[in-house]
Amino acid sequence: MRAPDIIRKKRDGGTLARAEIEFMISGIASGAVKDYQLAALLMAIVWRGMTADETQVLTESMLNSGTIVDLSRVLGPKIDKHSTGGVGDKTSLILAPVAAAAGVLVPMVSGRGLGHTGGTLDKLEAIPGFRIDLDLVRYEQVLAKCGLVLIGQTAEIAPADKKLYALRDATATVESIPLISASIMSKKLAEGIDGLVLDVKTGEGAFIQELERSRLLAETMCKIGAGMGKKMTALVTRMDHPLGRAVGNALETREAIECLRGDGPADLMDLSMELAAEMVLMAGLASSLEQGRTLCGRTIADGTALERFKGVIEAQGGDPRVIDDLDRLPRARTTVDLVADRSGFVVDLKARPVGHAAMLLGAGRARAEDGVDHAVGVVLHKKPGDRVSPGEALCTLHVNDETRLAEARSLVASAYDYSDVPPVASPLIVERIARVPSTRPVPASERKGDS
Ligand code: URA
Repeated sequence: MRAPDIIRKKRDGGTLARAEIEFMISGIASGAVKDYQLAALLMAIVWRGMTADETQVLTESMLNSGTIVDLSRVLGPKIDKHSTGGVGDKTSLILAPVAAAAGVLVPMVSGRGLGHTGGTLDKLEAIPGFRIDLDLVRYEQVLAKCGLVLIGQTAEIAPADKKLYALRDATATVESIPLISASIMSKKLAEGIDGLVLDVKTGEGAFIQELERSRLLAETMCKIGAGMGKKMTALVTRMDHPLGRAVGNALETREAIECLRGDGPADLMDLSMELAAEMVLMAGLASSLEQGRTLCGRTIADGTALERFKGVIEAQGGDPRVIDDLDRLPRARTTVDLVADRSGFVVDLKARPVGHAAMLLGAGRARAEDGVDHAVGVVLHKKPGDRVSPGEALCTLHVNDETRLAEARSLVASAYDYSDVPPVASPLIVERIARVPSTRPVPASERKGDS
């Protein structure tokens, strides 16, 4: 088998056989396939697409490039949630302790923010001392002790994805549904989970903006997961406006803790609780979504979700006192208000420019290798539907380095749109897709042979 023949086949619109996909992916570790050959294959896939079977095999090959964690010693239903990324999306910090307090085991391997979108790991690292780099032994121990664990990708999990993602980033081959699906699912399937709840974002601030394509991404990932013996549910949710009021790492962690105290913005609370209820339902701990919502609501009301979060912070080396004293989170040196210059209703607040503004202030990264400033970001006082008067603060920028403040400020200003009449609110959750496992889980040793 030769890499150029496989690339040519895909370039000309052919369907790759299992052995051909496996050859290319195993060639990453052995060095038999060069970066330039992988890059050419990726571009051919972007143009020609992949069938459902090819996408499934690609995911399996990437998954099998590393360790599949065995969490069978930790007894109980293990369910994770994954979001395709957005602005102000701190739902993981809320729903993981809520679901854990309701009895779900939540082994969560998260990512970092990139571009205008934030990442769970950066929000967790805003907590002084919090370690996201646990090894897989400690990962299992913390899960057993706390009912949840929140770490970053380790070198053992889907190493082929790490290589491919870096190449995709550098060759404009990120935006492909088969490639995104295989990338996300290969990592999630390695975690040792029984099921996965996906939050697939759609709209202006999402990775994939068109509803049809977001739906296709959700369906593709559900099909892959179900084909690998996992329970899968996807909610397609709108990412037109930032979720909640805080954008920026410590600011978002603060808001997540406020939600766990029962005092958070409605949009953020509603989505977090809905995703947590889906996890509870998937785990078999509720017989309906309604019952799942009730169970989850109880964990906020009785403080057990907040206690779970405190427990996992402590187990992962963080300062648990942040739970009772939010001022222990990093704070920016100075704040700058952006004020309204007219009266009316806010009818739009675009997520993407707000996310970019937070990035310019230092909250996010333009390149994967950049660092972040945990303290900075934007707090939105006015969101769509709110009435404003001249001179009222629309939002507050939390700033340490003023180099790009003017640019950030004008980006946030450009995100707002007004009208004399209030907007019609559209629901955050657009669609729900659920799939039950379509096969028994197939051991890796049996997943060989041509497709
Ligand atoms: N997140 C991932 O992990 N992979 C992608 O391809 C896109 C988003």
